[in-house]
Amino acid sequence: MQTKQHIKVWDLPVRLFHWGAVACFLVSWASASWFDNAMEIHLYSGYAMLTLVLFRIIWGFAGSTTARFSNFVRDPRSLAAYARTLRHRAPSLYLGHNPGGGWAVVIMLALLLFQVLTGLFSTDDSGSVRGPLAHLISDDASDTISAIHSVAFDFLIAVIGIHIAAVFFYRIFKHDNLITAMINGTRNIIPGMTIPELRFAGLRRAAIIFILVAVTVIVLIRFN
Ligand code: HEM
Repeated sequence: MQTKQHIKVWDLPVRLFHWGAVACFLVSWASASWFDNAMEIHLYSGYAMLTLVLFRIIWGFAGSTTARFSNFVRDPRSLAAYARTLRHRAPSLYLGHNPGGGWAVVIMLALLLFQVLTGLFSTDDSGSVRGPLAHLISDDASDTISAIHSVAFDFLIAVIGIHIAAVFFYRIFKHDNLITAMINGTRNIIPGMTIPELRFAGLRRAAIIFILVAVTVIVLIRFN
């Protein structure tokens, strides 16, 4: 969907992944911290997050051009060169993730994966709600992993806080509206921007990968 000023940059699976991850994150946080007796919901939002993150990692190899890690994970020299342009009040000339954003994506995906994987082996404070894989390890090991799960969550909140602050920094300081792009998939073409040839992967491929990942997660949590 291309006009003179706008170009499609994010495919639907990336956008659904993003806002789905935001929803799962908020439900996981609320169910663990703000509501009593909501651990069942916490477990299910964790399974949903695990499905989304595994899907996104595979999509990073098999998805559209801008979704691929090879498109946005850049070497330290490019990252340093990009960092030097941050003080300029102009939008980024990268169509997809810029070098800073690219590494932020990798870090957030790794932290989200770590969070849900530790959750699978954790036990709640009362000892009555256990992750589906907690029975595979000793109670002491599960308690240790629960403590790590809890500290990692605080760290995740900090990283996500920085992520949201960075997005607003781009919006306010650099006049670059990344948020609309993550909602409708398109962004403005900036003069001087190099427009690479973009290939968008089909939704059928995304659906097949998603279903395979969801089935794998169900098997993992139900039959172990
Ligand atoms: C609350 C939990 C959140 C998590 C876990 C999260 C995670 C992520 C991840 C993993 C990506 C990479 C997307 C991809 O390539 O698949 C991303 C990108 C992005 N996120 Fe979030 N996000 C969160 C909240 C938000 C919020 C509240 C906003 C808006 C205010 C936002 C705006 C964006 C934007 C604009 C991008 C694209 C950045 C770019 O163009 O490089 N995110 N986020």
